[in-house]
Amino acid sequence: MNIADSENVVSMLINSGDFEITNNINQTDVIIVNTCSVRKHAEDREESFIGNLKKLKIKNEELKIIILGCFAQNAKLELQKKFPFVDLIVGPLDYEYLAEILSNVFQRNISKNYKYLNLFNKVSVFVPIMTGCDNYCSYCIVPYVRGREKSRSLDEILDEIKNLLYKDIKEIVLIGQNVNSYKYIDKENSYIGFSELLKKIANLGVNKKFWIRFLTNHPKDMSYEIIKTIKDFPNVARHIHLPLQSGSNRILELMNRKYTVEKYKQIVNMIRDNIKDIAITTDLIVGFPTETEEDFKHTLQAVKDIRFDSAFVFKYSPREKTKATELKDDIPKEVKEERHYKILTLCDNIAYQINKSYINKIKDVLIHSYVNKNGNVILIGKTIENKTVEIFSDKKNFVGNFVKTKIVDVKFHTLVGEIVG
Ligand code: 5AD
Ligand code: SF4
Repeated sequence: MNIADSENVVSMLINSGDFEITNNINQTDVIIVNTCSVRKHAEDREESFIGNLKKLKIKNEELKIIILGCFAQNAKLELQKKFPFVDLIVGPLDYEYLAEILSNVFQRNISKNYKYLNLFNKVSVFVPIMTGCDNYCSYCIVPYVRGREKSRSLDEILDEIKNLLYKDIKEIVLIGQNVNSYKYIDKENSYIGFSELLKKIANLGVNKKFWIRFLTNHPKDMSYEIIKTIKDFPNVARHIHLPLQSGSNRILELMNRKYTVEKYKQIVNMIRDNIKDIAITTDLIVGFPTETEEDFKHTLQAVKDIRFDSAFVFKYSPREKTKATELKDDIPKEVKEERHYKILTLCDNIAYQINKSYINKIKDVLIHSYVNKNGNVILIGKTIENKTVEIFSDKKNFVGNFVKTKIVDVKFHTLVGEIVG
């Protein structure tokens, strides 16, 4: 979401005609820092980055420094006090007025109705379909810094995607805190849920090949309709990111996640029964307040039973204002670290085993970029299951193309492929 926001702000500025991007932070007139406040660790890094900008401001008084994002929302006054040299601090709750705010700061006409410019020449572009979140998971700051859940209008989303496809974008990533609860009432008064939205977008691909991804999903909003839609459209990703968070029902209840492990497993079974070869990935939190060794064992067991294609594992970080702060952050740092390590090792091993089953398969790979390594060119792409594939090939012009690739090896999370045909 932050990447999409940053790219939109940059597009707004460039569209106004007076700005261009530079790679040289020492020569720039404007620095925009987008921040996250989901965990304390992110905030600490951001503070140190912002602190370091002071010396640039001393060198160049004309330099404008702007802080965006959830941390800006969460700690505006603190940040103002700590970093008085910053020119503007704007959080997501004020983004609807961003054009006016930026116009004021830069004394120029910066329009709200800009077109996304794909300044970084990407093959794959994020399209926000909703903002905010109403779920109030007890550990999570997002509802406080991004506000209530709000779905974007269907026409706006479809227009944006048509424009991107016209510009030859090959992958659309629908993003939102909880995309599978998308809901919109259109002009004819009909209800558009996430599955209807997916169908309408997937149907834009009649004349042009492109893939659609989406993230992230809440298990409580995962329906048969959505699963059937994914199944019916081969251009919708064979990948669902479905955060489990914990394998203990007691902790899930304390987290206010509104499902049990049994219910979660039923959803996974429904997905796997209907769509073969679909990747399922997840988020897990270890060290939530009161998490016992027994609770943690339930999470390990759930991971063994479900076998995720990959998992992001986080150590619980208390966030101000959230319900979970009523509970003491009582799991010692070392225990959080040990649980984090154990579960990551388990997840990595499972991911490796699953990925090995791709060997000898021929997959369509969308090439996103290339890197130069020890004198060789390596193309980097993704399969429709969102597996990263490295291909030794100097065909840099394949970037942006779907390429038939034979998987010949696996390096833990990355597949190694050879172009065929
Ligand atoms: N502490 C640790 N992890 C968190 N997440 C959200 N809030 C916290 C927190 N306070 C994790 C969740 C979520 C992911 C984006 O970040 O796993 O799914
Ligand atoms: Fe946070 Fe829960 Fe909303 Fe995800 S669903 S953004 S974890 S409150």
